[in-house]
Amino acid sequence: MTIRITGTGSALPEKRVTNFDLEKLVETSDEWIQKRTGIAERRISDGDTVSTLAAMACKNALEMAGKAANEVDLIIVATCSPELLLPCCACQVQDALGASDAVAFDLNAACSGFLFALNTANAYLQTGIYKNALIVGSEVLSKLVDWNDRGTCILFGDGAGAAFMEASAEDIIRSNGRKAGMECMLQGSEGAKGMVLSCAERAVNNAFMSGTQTEESPYIHMDGQEVYKFATKQVPACIQQALDKAGMTVEDVDWFMLHQANVRIIESVAKRLRVDIARFPMNIHKIGNMSSATIPVLLDEWNRGGRLREGDRLVLSGFGAGLTYGASVLVW
Ligand code: COA
Repeated sequence: MTIRITGTGSALPEKRVTNFDLEKLVETSDEWIQKRTGIAERRISDGDTVSTLAAMACKNALEMAGKAANEVDLIIVATCSPELLLPCCACQVQDALGASDAVAFDLNAACSGFLFALNTANAYLQTGIYKNALIVGSEVLSKLVDWNDRGTCILFGDGAGAAFMEASAEDIIRSNGRKAGMECMLQGSEGAKGMVLSCAERAVNNAFMSGTQTEESPYIHMDGQEVYKFATKQVPACIQQALDKAGMTVEDVDWFMLHQANVRIIESVAKRLRVDIARFPMNIHKIGNMSSATIPVLLDEWNRGGRLREGDRLVLSGFGAGLTYGASVLVW
């Protein structure tokens, strides 16, 4: 059996916001932001929503896979910034695509969301419950960011990326002898450290309550240094564990596609794994941190740009609020 990605797609808002634009909002500088994060600009929604971006990314992925919407079995949208609490974004996407036969639901694992969706879909496909799945990471973080907080507003952007996964009964062997498809996955969560990166929803409020509950600030709060420490320690350890589980070493991997949170985090992971940074594709400089959308957008960029070859082995690794983290090993 082979479970592999046969189509990728992405959708980004048109509006570009540069570091120079941010200099006009908060006390910061292009030099500081580039040096500490590697980000030069990000895309910010001018009306696009999580569901419209997700639907567009899905259309592009389906088109590449050569599939019609009514052939889709499962839609999982990973998001932490949906425009509605009900219905879920995946059902909005189902409607927008006309994927009337699909089962659709959302999943929130913040910046690890796409990876968790990939692993969830993989489990469904492995068991034969569904034959294919559209998985999407879509975010409009610009509405959750306090544009007066220079510690966070410089980091985030909006966008969506999608992948279409299919199961086939036969093994597909690439010319380099590797069997295509999903090989190994690993996920972890550290709920005890959750408040280092948080964003509040509505406080408890009902007709029978005695007293009122204070509303928390509705914006993203982050202890940047704690998140940095977590990511630089946990991500290389998780990748190493996933490779150990698969009986492989870093030398067996062609590309390490990490969640694009910060260039310094990615450089630190490469150093700890003793892998050349050239094997860590990056696009953060032009789109910033789009949480669950970064990995599929990067994958789509590399796929459409012809930089992925059949038989290449990839490690995808996400990390973020929760705290959550994970890695998947697959052959293209
Ligand atoms: N522009 C200019 N100065 C800034 C600034 C900005 N945008 N943001 C913070 N500063 C200042 C701070 O106020 C502080 O000033 P002080 O020394 O006078 O108190 C100084 O820069 C250093 O702040 P610090 O928070 O220690 O910076 P840092 O080196 O940790 O970098 C981050 C901040 C956010 C870039 C870094 O912690 C980081 O990348 N963390 C991971 C965040 C992340 O990836 N989150 C998403 C995970 S999915």
